Amino acid sequence: MYTYKIYNNIAQEGINIFNKNGMKEGSSDPDALLLRSQVLQDIDFNKSLKCIGRAGAGTNNIPVKDATEKGVVVFNTPGANANAVKELVVCGMLLASRGIIQGSAYATTLKGKASDELNKAMESQKKHFKGTEVKGKTLGIVGLGAIGSLLAQTANIMGMKIIGYDPYISVDAAWRLPKEVEKADSLESLLSRCDYVSLHVPLLDSTKDLISSQTLKVIKDGAKIINLSRGGIVNNNDILDSLESGKISRYVTDFPTPELISRAADDGDVILLPHLGASTKEAEINCASMASEQVSDFLRNGTIVNSVNFPSVRLGRATNFRLIIINKNEPGMIGKIADQIASSNLNITDMTNKSRDDIAINLIDLDENPSDQIIKNIEAIEHILSVRLCPAL
Ligand code: MLT
Repeated sequence: MYTYKIYNNIAQEGINIFNKNGMKEGSSDPDALLLRSQVLQDIDFNKSLKCIGRAGAGTNNIPVKDATEKGVVVFNTPGANANAVKELVVCGMLLASRGIIQGSAYATTLKGKASDELNKAMESQKKHFKGTEVKGKTLGIVGLGAIGSLLAQTANIMGMKIIGYDPYISVDAAWRLPKEVEKADSLESLLSRCDYVSLHVPLLDSTKDLISSQTLKVIKDGAKIINLSRGGIVNNNDILDSLESGKISRYVTDFPTPELISRAADDGDVILLPHLGASTKEAEINCASMASEQVSDFLRNGTIVNSVNFPSVRLGRATNFRLIIINKNEPGMIGKIADQIASSNLNITDMTNKSRDDIAINLIDLDENPSDQIIKNIEAIEHILSVRLCPAL
């Protein structure tokens, strides 16, 4: 029986999937971790750990490189919270365009006033909260994955002009884009033409400080930036300078820092949210369910979908005796594994091998139950990271 450990608040629907698949909660030496924003340390990689499910898209809270070196599969849930994030981006654009926050705060100051008096006060003061509409304005979307493409559809319906930039766009994502989306050839080209810019890229070495003094130099005067992806994609000092000089007019983000909080309190041109992008009931259920399904299917069958460090792999069950073997991606490994199996007079009924960068996985269905000794012999082959017998349930 496989065990799991949960970090953070994970929707019960996800935990139910583990339980339905015969897994049990066990905090010491679990086979799987399921988490949201818990920052994992090396210490969390106990010897029995086989996989980690991240209920969300970003995996910057998981040491993915260490996981790969130890043969631990890291899953995420792309698209599962895309609608929640998209809705909050739309809200962010509106908050950045109209005096909603300031107007709402003003309305509460009228507590205790009689109707006539408060109506008069409101009508005389509402000019201070006037804004602009998003219809007819240009939205730049940086990153056209699940969230970016959904945002493009909604912004298109709202009458916005859309410019997209994504040098790594997948064919599926390209299909999802409305035909009206104009493709930018560079980030700078997008920034120079957009009234609103929304960021939808993961935090990687290559995307850190994507928005910095270098890129802000060319941004359209008065642009509004919305960042619900990750704080590190934007250089906060450079953003503050840009706000101070009036180059950009608003910064909306899910990732407050002390400097941003000071600016928000003093000037009101920074709008801060406490990492709420994916915080809807629906998104939490979708993410938890998707992560639990993926983790369960890997533990039970070796199937991998939506991993950030392993190749996708799937093999229909040919027999009841499946070996799941993870090895470093070195030449000759399949031959060495097959030799061990053949020397034990076992027959391979079906098998598949997939690799990605430095790691490889083999799913091997045998016609008979392999002995513990065969498993030990395979484990002893150089570059093998783990061998696990996975009976059909
Ligand atoms: C994500 O990466 O999708 C979000 O950060 C999820 C979350 O808020 O937990």
